[in-house]
Amino acid sequence: MKLFWKILAYGFGAVLLLVGAAALVIVVLSNSKLKKIYAVAVKPVSVAADPEAVARGKHLAETRGCVDCHSADLGGKTVFENGAMGRVDAPNLTRGQGGLPAGYRDEDFVRAIRHGVAVDGRGLFLMPSGDYTTFSDPDMAALLAYLKSLPSVNRPRGPIMLGPVARGLVAFGKIKLSAEEIDHANVKPAVVTPGVTADYGRYVAASCTGCHGPNFSGGKIASGPPDWPPAANLTPHVQGRINKWNEAEFLRTLRTAKRPDGTELHPAMPRAFGQMDDVELKAVWAYFKTLPAAETGVR
Ligand code: HEC
Ligand code: HEC
Repeated sequence: MKLFWKILAYGFGAVLLLVGAAALVIVVLSNSKLKKIYAVAVKPVSVAADPEAVARGKHLAETRGCVDCHSADLGGKTVFENGAMGRVDAPNLTRGQGGLPAGYRDEDFVRAIRHGVAVDGRGLFLMPSGDYTTFSDPDMAALLAYLKSLPSVNRPRGPIMLGPVARGLVAFGKIKLSAEEIDHANVKPAVVTPGVTADYGRYVAASCTGCHGPNFSGGKIASGPPDWPPAANLTPHVQGRINKWNEAEFLRTLRTAKRPDGTELHPAMPRAFGQMDDVELKAVWAYFKTLPAAETGVR
């Protein structure tokens, strides 16, 4: 063999080895996060299946994102599927075939919703439990009453198969499981009275923090697909838009997904929040008014 070809062959071999080693590191690192076991002490809630609680639970499921991922009948659906990110299905939450196992208990729901942890102790992928840890006990009880009242849907549980990009993002901590971020020993349900107050607004707006950030300054959404725009700045900062809106315009924007200037909100902004009732949305507005102005994306 000519020396030139030898060098090329060795060089090619070395590149293959490097790529292989990098892939191995990514698989090992991402597995260590995806398979990590979280032992959490779940605080019990007492669930009473009265019609009022079921109705409140339905409202919560429809307005806090559950139906967006788990589908309108909560029988589960594919949340995303593409070559880079892989395929992720939100499971069937009913008792039909492919749904939750017969032995699924109230505390298993609470472990999943407040802690982002599955029955076997692993962290749930994509399930945004960080937004739900503060659900008040009455709201958690209502949500459970509703979920347990659901008609059975027979739909097989789809897979969670992460693609190479998703694996890399998990391995290097760009996508974090909720279970990694939640302080499991200090999960404190909120104690709130519904009403048009900034206090209640802060509670409702916990559902917005996963994308708009803990201080609502918006910016890049780490867990979102690459084609998502940054989340808007919802603080009164001049870089945002909502400092120029009034309460009615804010409500109309959420209800119609159209801004006062007529432009449409990107579908990444969940439409379900627009179905929150007036008390919830006005409370969120009152709370946003109390936020310190923050530069976009500075969390
Ligand atoms: C952004 C999408 C998304 C939203 C919003 C969401 N979930 Fe999930 N949820 C998932 C995915 C995906 C899984 C499965 C994750 C896994 O198995 O790793 C899951 C898992 C669960 C589980 C555990 C089921 C099991 O078999 O262990 C429960 C319970 C659950 N979700 C309830 C809810 C409720 C209630 C809400 C609303 C308050 C909600 N989810 C909102 C995506 C979502
Ligand atoms: C799954 C991610 C996600 C969640 C959760 C979310 N948002 Fe958004 N939101 C976005 C994105 C992305 C945009 C930017 C849309 C665009 O550029 O068209 C946005 C835009 C907005 C806007 C328009 C502001 C502007 O300046 O144009 C408002 C208002 C808003 N969100 C309010 C909320 C509220 C209130 C909540 C919680 C109840 C919430 N969002 C939860 C992703 C999210």
